[in-house]
Amino acid sequence: MHLHNLTRCFPLGLILLAATTSFLLPLDRTEDVSRKGNRSEENMSKVSELKAGLMYLDADFFNDSEVLDMAEGAKEFNVPMFRVNRKLVASVDGGLHNPSVLVFNPSWDNNEASHEHEKFKYPSLPDLKRPSKEDDIAFMTVLELATLIKTKQITSRELTDIFLRRLKKYNHVLEAVITFTEDLAYSQAKKADDLLEKGVYLGPLHGIPYGLKDIIAVPGYKTTWGSKTFKDQYLGIEAWVYKRLKSSGAVLLAKLVSGSLAYDDIWFGGRTRNPWNIEEFSTGSSAGPAASTSAGLVPFAIGSETAGSLTYPAARCGITCLRPTFGTVGRSGVMSISESLDKLGPFCRSAMDCAIVIDAIRGKDPDDLSSRHIFLDDPFSIDISNLTVGYLEDAEMEIVDVLKSKGVKVVPFKLNYTVESVQAILNFTMDVDMLAHFDHWQRSGEDRQYEAQDQWPEELRRARLIPAVDYLQAQRARGKLIREVRESFTVDAFIGNATDWELVCLGNLVGMPIVVVPTGFKSIKNPPEGGTRRRTTITTGIYAPPDRDHIALSLAMAYQSVTDHHKQHPPIDDLGPNDKLPIPSNTT
Ligand SMILES: *[C@@H]1O[C@H](CO)[C@@H](O)[C@H](O)[C@H]1NC(C)=O
Ligand SMILES: *[C@@H]1O[C@H](CO)[C@@H](O)[C@H](O)[C@H]1NC(C)=O
Ligand SMILES: *[C@@H]1O[C@H](CO)[C@@H](O)[C@H](O)[C@H]1NC(C)=O
Ligand SMILES: *[C@@H]1O[C@H](CO)[C@@H](O)[C@H](O)[C@H]1NC(C)=O
Ligand SMILES: *[C@@H]1O[C@H](CO)[C@@H](O)[C@H](O)[C@H]1NC(C)=O
Ligand SMILES: *[C@@H]1O[C@H](CO)[C@@H](O)[C@H](O)[C@H]1NC(C)=O
Ligand SMILES: *[C@@H]1O[C@H](CO)[C@@H](O)[C@H](O)[C@H]1NC(C)=O
Repeated sequence: MHLHNLTRCFPLGLILLAATTSFLLPLDRTEDVSRKGNRSEENMSKVSELKAGLMYLDADFFNDSEVLDMAEGAKEFNVPMFRVNRKLVASVDGGLHNPSVLVFNPSWDNNEASHEHEKFKYPSLPDLKRPSKEDDIAFMTVLELATLIKTKQITSRELTDIFLRRLKKYNHVLEAVITFTEDLAYSQAKKADDLLEKGVYLGPLHGIPYGLKDIIAVPGYKTTWGSKTFKDQYLGIEAWVYKRLKSSGAVLLAKLVSGSLAYDDIWFGGRTRNPWNIEEFSTGSSAGPAASTSAGLVPFAIGSETAGSLTYPAARCGITCLRPTFGTVGRSGVMSISESLDKLGPFCRSAMDCAIVIDAIRGKDPDDLSSRHIFLDDPFSIDISNLTVGYLEDAEMEIVDVLKSKGVKVVPFKLNYTVESVQAILNFTMDVDMLAHFDHWQRSGEDRQYEAQDQWPEELRRARLIPAVDYLQAQRARGKLIREVRESFTVDAFIGNATDWELVCLGNLVGMPIVVVPTGFKSIKNPPEGGTRRRTTITTGIYAPPDRDHIALSLAMAYQSVTDHHKQHPPIDDLGPNDKLPIPSNTT
């Protein structure tokens, strides 16, 4: 989902500061008592007022300290945002302007079988030879591994062995796996090898191992959502994306870490680490898929994003990732945060691989009303030399220069929009939608055992105090934002920071695709004597308008065709002569 501690100065800072100040200062100065212990009369009266109000919302199940936090949160976050959005879209009556983006579609024809799109024509690698070292095989791209399989230089069974060995070898360092699906993997690998023996080749994912974020249901295995509350959950559901990968011949090795309920990188068994610098965590919430792909433990993995959960860990772990246009990949069988924000996407070693994987999993899912069959041009055959690409102030200039040298017209760019509550609209939409999906969890008090109390539990209690009407105003403000971004999007694509929080919120509200691209490395601060192989990764984002994922992919491919940042191998636990970091021993 997202990482609220990365939230930077938001446009509403002033309003929030004012609200915060007037609310907290008088209380803070009156008495010096701890929050859990003594309570001022003022606080107690706040609690009883809100408690009375909550009865009318059929929500009188919170304890006193929760109610106090909710009162504060409502005043600090909710009310200022209600006011801003209302000013934007609700000062004129009649509903003629700014329609909500949440659209009702009464068609009963959603059950139509998905019609197959024409597949992308990926290049062939006629001279590719199998490397002798297992580690080199582990870091090959999907396209390269597919070539080895197709030319029978390696079997799916061998690949399954190699990657399972690596997953097991490094999991105690990275804490990236929740469940190994070993038996399934060997049976899928055998099927792939048998088919190939019979001359049946299913395409570039035939026999290729991969991992799934553990919010994606696979029958016969636990689907834990990374959370203490659900850690023993078995769902008899086969997620759409898993079905698609299965029918492409891919081999599932493991259910990889989702931060608890798809928030951050903390899960019930630990906290996932960044293979480039294991002192750091991977960020989340697609923590396991990002870290495992980066470390060469799987050739690719599927993660998800509501706001930042693909882009943040891809950037931190230094790998290529596609967050596709909203609606590209069906989500049935996947834990829901927000129906209008959630999306699935691949982590890979290259943009080419992202194109190959998305080609296998895209299309209409009859059980996901938001999924669509989106026409995409073949990114492998796009002539980029007639594209105009903007770059934001914070773009990595190397990629801009490379694209320019390849004939792309590059221009300085800025997105113009007047909606100032982008981050708040994101918060509202996500939190209210999430609460609708985890209503029982909160009502029953199960949220009290959540791994990080200041994350979902606190936000979802606050969401209880968002009136339906203000939620809809936020959706109308979102509609206005989308219109403004569309008008301002005067280039074919633009390059900019992939983890800028405002842009993450904006990109997800608009549903626009982004490819995250590694563009280099920095030294870490204060390395131990004798040096270290640990590094900080540098990445940037290529943003395209909705339904133009192929443009972003083709630009990323062009860049990666002449650079090798995406081909570097992280040190994982081989750090340096005096660089001994403590590695946790008690993983589940
Ligand atoms: C708590 O409040 C009571 C009554 O106001 C007071 O007597 C007591 O000293 C307070 N305790 C602390 C720790 O402040
Ligand atoms: C009132 O509650 C707030 C928030 O829980 C706390 O920070 C503050 O210290 C409390 N004030 C008193 C006087 O107890
Ligand atoms: C680029 O050229 C192709 C054909 O050469 C054309 O179909 C496409 O519309 C052009 N794109 C732009 C942005 O001009
Ligand atoms: C959005 O929610 C996060 C997490 O609670 C919070 O840190 C952030 O300040 C909120 N942003 C806005 C603009 O309300
Ligand atoms: C109220 O719930 C919170 C968790 O949300 C818990 O930390 C606290 O101890 C509870 N307080 C009481 C008085 O039960
Ligand atoms: C953005 O707005 C500024 C000022 O109104 C204008 O100069 C600039 O051309 C606009 N940029 C785009 C891309 O529309
Ligand atoms: C990109 O955004 C992140 C998060 O706000 C920030 O830490 C980083 O410094 C930014 N990078 C650049 C090049 O501005």
